[in-house]
Amino acid sequence: MRATPASYWDAVADDWQSARDRLWRQHSDAVNRALLARWMPSGTRGRWLKTDLFDEAVCDGVAETLSEHAAQVVGMDIAVRVLHRARVAGWHRVAADARILPFRSESFDGVVSLSTLDHFTSREDIARALAEVHRVVRPGGWLILTLDNLLNPKIALRSILPWDWLRAMGLVPYQVGATCGPRTLAQVVRAVGFELVEMTAIQHGPRVLGVWLARRLASASTTWQRRYRQWFGKWERLERWPSRYFTGHFVAVRARKR
Ligand SMILES: C[S@@+](CC[C@H](N)C(=O)[O-])C[C@H]1O[C@@H](n2cnc3c(N)ncnc32)[C@H](O)[C@@H]1O
Repeated sequence: MRATPASYWDAVADDWQSARDRLWRQHSDAVNRALLARWMPSGTRGRWLKTDLFDEAVCDGVAETLSEHAAQVVGMDIAVRVLHRARVAGWHRVAADARILPFRSESFDGVVSLSTLDHFTSREDIARALAEVHRVVRPGGWLILTLDNLLNPKIALRSILPWDWLRAMGLVPYQVGATCGPRTLAQVVRAVGFELVEMTAIQHGPRVLGVWLARRLASASTTWQRRYRQWFGKWERLERWPSRYFTGHFVAVRARKR
């Protein structure tokens, strides 16, 4: 059960406080917010857990959308400085490892996990974390999960190339780990006891170009920044195509505890 140390994630979050990647993060947050707005059960309240607070520590994240839908939100992260930096007014913050959750069984109405579980070194750890998530969700409760999508050829290639080389080429922003494609993910989600309700792929825009352009436009006028967000938002139309799992950076699952 090896893991990237929490101090590594604290350092990444510190580094990401600059405005350099803000525009890209705004786009990424907008895609995640749209997914939650679509998938969180309508009229839901109750107690929800978010499995990491990186998005909220470096940009706006999905705090507003989650707070709108839930009566109470617990935001957890393994990295303490990420927890402190997160702009999540009214949320409870808990430092914890997603593979050993310090919560009572069946104490949440839903769990939102946006690309937290794709930083482990093995798929066994993904299954272990999902089993923990299943334990803490009440029967009938929800899981909304995204992971790097191994069916996307860019992620598949990335998974076999050496990390040092990827980092040096600027092709990955931080340490990435084991992940799976839609078929394996569906199996794991079902194996731990969830009923798979829906599956899709999100974030279809060309990522390397998106990050590069976002940096160049970091101090551009609000008009140009708005145009960037609109243009990148349009790539999400590829979700409607049968090729969605080849273009989407993340595979996304909506599941319910039986
Ligand atoms: C890069 S990020 C998450 C990606 C982000 N949600 C996004 O979509 O860009 C990884 C986050 O997960 C947290 N994390 C890593 N391993 C964890 C673990 N075992 N348990 C809980 N949080 C973990 C890190 O501290 C960091 O905040």
